[in-house]
Amino acid sequence: MNSKVRADLILKDIGELVTMAGSPAARRGEAARELSIIRNGAIASFDGRIVWTGKTSDAADRVEPASGSLEIDLAGKIVTPGFVDSHTHPLYAGTRQVEFALRAGGADYEEISAAGGGILNSVKRTRQATAESIESTLVKHLTTMLLYGTTTVEVKSGYGLDLETEIRCLETASRLSENWPQTIARTFLGAHEVPLEYRHRPDEYIDYLIETVLPEIKNRELADFVDIFCEKGVFTAVQSERYLKAAKRMGFGVRMHADEFHDTGGASLAVDLEALSADHLLSISDANIARIAASDTVATLLPGTALFLGKPFPPGRKLLDAGAAVAIATDFNPGSCFCESMPFMINLAVCQCGFTIEEAVTAATVNGAAALGMGDRKGALVPGMDADMIIWDLDDYRGIAYHMAIPDIDDVIVAGQLISIMFE
Ligand code: NIG
Ligand code: FE
Repeated sequence: MNSKVRADLILKDIGELVTMAGSPAARRGEAARELSIIRNGAIASFDGRIVWTGKTSDAADRVEPASGSLEIDLAGKIVTPGFVDSHTHPLYAGTRQVEFALRAGGADYEEISAAGGGILNSVKRTRQATAESIESTLVKHLTTMLLYGTTTVEVKSGYGLDLETEIRCLETASRLSENWPQTIARTFLGAHEVPLEYRHRPDEYIDYLIETVLPEIKNRELADFVDIFCEKGVFTAVQSERYLKAAKRMGFGVRMHADEFHDTGGASLAVDLEALSADHLLSISDANIARIAASDTVATLLPGTALFLGKPFPPGRKLLDAGAAVAIATDFNPGSCFCESMPFMINLAVCQCGFTIEEAVTAATVNGAAALGMGDRKGALVPGMDADMIIWDLDDYRGIAYHMAIPDIDDVIVAGQLISIMFE
């Protein structure tokens, strides 16, 4: 009865194997607090996929090491799925340290943007940058994310705001993703801001995106998703609806920056459009908390952005109690959250947004994967899924959230490969 599975990587004597086994759909309510831990666990993978999980005491009977396989005794340390960071903006050039200093002196993020700084400042630098320099910035930040446990990452364009630069950025991400350890999902965020050449003509810019840019992105297969910054002073809900409906007709999955600084109807529109995810939500109304909770749209919270901008944190507990499917992500970008660390986001979700530790781990793994439509491959450690894992120098998973800003990560495994060996 006990036929053995062949494995090229076997981890044994895992104090807590946090499998997250369960539905591939985003989890909510009680299901978001269940980590499906195997104590004294073991896990085996072959050719980048998980082939078996169980008790260490059963491993010898169930797993056949392939020749040249690697077997590691973890001496009671813990293993979790790799993190899924479902919202980042690492395709840019230059820095925004000058604006950061202005904010430190009391200036407001939205005022800086309205005065032509903010996103447009990064757009100016990105338009002038070569693909090589955009790639080197991307590689630098993706590498940091990997060291901090992120094995799947969504990257957005949105600092080009013209056909040529948006394509340059997305081509850079696409090229890199072919030969890069992390799994990369690409999102076209041409509707991140109204560029200077369309100043005060947002509708004409939306026309340009729909008629000229989106078809080209589609033809070249440069993006998996389309996103828009629906916000006071940027794009209205009416413009967002027109744009995202066009993107859906072209076959893109859609997601939104919604209700970040003001409630402009973003979250509600995301539900109407069956968006995969509505992100930020610092200003979501109680009525729209109930609406998103009753929908399949994932509420993606970005607590690092609230921290970095000195804004009130997003209403995590309210969303969780209402029954929403909640993910957390870094929002890594040069202006509003210059931080690549998912473990820090977990700490902030727990300490500032009312998550339990279990809900925060779910939000950073399975629910992030579901927000990217990857719930069947990523975010859990179940046979058939990708062997993306984190080995922690901890004997209790609660230490993940407890250690603020400093993750106790021993090693990260992507597609069955240890990064400590990869980068040797
Ligand atoms: O998600 N909110 C819009 N976009 C980014 C900020 C980008 C920037 O400031 O460069 C965000 O926070
Ligand atoms: Fe963002």
